[in-house]
Amino acid sequence: MSAKKSTSKEISHNPMKQRVFNTPRILRHTPLILLTAILTSCATGRIDPTDPVGENAKQIDGIMRLSGYMATAVGIFVAIAVVVVIVKFREKPDDDPDELPKQIHGNRKAELTWTVIPVLLLVFLAVVTIPAVFDLSGKSDGRTIQVEGQQWWWQFSYDVDEDGIHDIVTANEIVIPVGEEINLDIRSNDVIHSFWIPQLNGKKDAVPGRVHHWRISSPVPGIFYGECVEFCGLSHANMQMRAVVLERDDYEAWVQEQLTPATIPADTAAKRGYDLFGRHCVSCHVVNGVYESAGNGNANLTSGYAPNLTHLMTRTSFAGSIFEMYKDDGSVNIADLREWVRNAPENKPSRPDNRQGMISFAETLSDSELDDLVTYLLTLGGPPPLMPS
Ligand code: CUA
Repeated sequence: MSAKKSTSKEISHNPMKQRVFNTPRILRHTPLILLTAILTSCATGRIDPTDPVGENAKQIDGIMRLSGYMATAVGIFVAIAVVVVIVKFREKPDDDPDELPKQIHGNRKAELTWTVIPVLLLVFLAVVTIPAVFDLSGKSDGRTIQVEGQQWWWQFSYDVDEDGIHDIVTANEIVIPVGEEINLDIRSNDVIHSFWIPQLNGKKDAVPGRVHHWRISSPVPGIFYGECVEFCGLSHANMQMRAVVLERDDYEAWVQEQLTPATIPADTAAKRGYDLFGRHCVSCHVVNGVYESAGNGNANLTSGYAPNLTHLMTRTSFAGSIFEMYKDDGSVNIADLREWVRNAPENKPSRPDNRQGMISFAETLSDSELDDLVTYLLTLGGPPPLMPS
């Protein structure tokens, strides 16, 4: 086909060519676009999939790296092949433009080669991956912790004496002993969520009506950060969590503390807060030993559950783990805690009118009542066995 040679004047009048002519501007912005993408994906900062700590996470990381190396090798091979073909088969000055180069369509040897090599690579990856998938889903001999995802936080329940009763119920922070493969039974109380603490294991969905089994473990003590990774509504991004891995003695001490019920405070301001709690908070929240009758299983929330607050101050964070409970100097982050109690929907997008999340007390509680309520909350256990570093 002998195409008419176009002049530069025609280029500027042809809309298609005009678009091609504009590409450099997009290219100029590429670094900015990439930088934005990288920075936004790192927004949570402490959630690190590139630094596996637990056995399960290391297993996944090994497969990820293996497939990454293979993909890189294939990518480099293809890139080189493309360049070779472009250079070798480019139109040369003495070529006849109407004459096609030698065609290889239907060449059995070539087609077999580029079919068999990818098949072998994929079979190899499957042989490595499939046993790992089953292995990661298997149960260990260790203890089992119940995990419930809900809008927009996580509940963890422990059956310490294995009588089928949840002796410990906590929120957002799963506390486990070091060096033990912990079984997780993951459920959802409302919509689909996904449990992910990347340094300890991969992702596992929490699906309503199903129980998904998973395991986490860490050979070292520490705090490991995770989040919900299945879009689950307004505050999906604010549905974070932490795994607190403790030395065995510290873990036993934590269990004993969690098993201790709360008592009615003696301090006057805290007692006033305790009474306010009984009036405003117990339709959703439980405090073991003092406010147990109402609370969880209530009709005020889609999920039916709000965090059990018995040992609130033993946690390092609150409100779906988006606020730090303690400041760097170890003192309580009273400002955020008070602000959260005052107007939760303003501090974390939620839909209390739709039974999703905590209601606002901005119109209900006076400043001094808020102070008393927070004073009461400060009596609920603590400090945490391990602080974020
Ligand atoms: Cu829960 Cu996203």
